Amino acid sequence: MGKLTIERENKSYLFEEIISEAELCQRVKELGQQISIDYKGKVPIIIGVLNGSFLFMADLIRNLNIEFEVDFIKISSYGNDLKTSGSVSLIKDISANITGRDIIVVEDIVDSGLSVKYLYKKLSNNNPKSINVITCLKKKTKKDIDQLIKYIGFNISSSFVIGYGLDFEQKYRGLNSIYNLKSHTES
Ligand code: IMP
Ligand code: MG
Repeated sequence: MGKLTIERENKSYLFEEIISEAELCQRVKELGQQISIDYKGKVPIIIGVLNGSFLFMADLIRNLNIEFEVDFIKISSYGNDLKTSGSVSLIKDISANITGRDIIVVEDIVDSGLSVKYLYKKLSNNNPKSINVITCLKKKTKKDIDQLIKYIGFNISSSFVIGYGLDFEQKYRGLNSIYNLKSHTES
């Protein structure tokens, strides 16, 4: 398993690989197959939550053998921090008309569940036929959010992770696997 050290403003952050590229690839394939079965004969609108979900979404849609449309929404909750800010703001709205449509929301990671709750409420206002959420990663959090999430790539511990779309201060999104913050020290 790979290790990664990131130096930032007198601190040294040690990250360790927890999910490999091959594991991600295999799981995304399985999720694509499952969604293709569940949505057979339907044409869902797949809404990617920017920025974090862009790689997961790109891989997921290439593993679907149904017809679908894509759109994007951009919200912010973490800012540049290592933890959630506690409030969600809309940065870019979808442009599709989702009324009467089957919606699949694609998240990179669900932590506190604040973002998913916000998205669910916001999209519900436009009366779609159905809304399901898929997330690549799910941290161990409160149970009340679980019923909103239909598909989960991997359940992980609640420490901070980067890679495969996920950032640390907007960087490292291009890493091919998922790394987890092991420790940080003053240097
Ligand atoms: P929630 O609203 O607390 O569930 O947080 C969701 C959003 O925060 C995710 O869509 C990510 O963009 C970001 N986030 C949560 N955990 C992490 C992490 O460990 N690394 C990077 N971003 C994260
Ligand atoms: Mg996100």
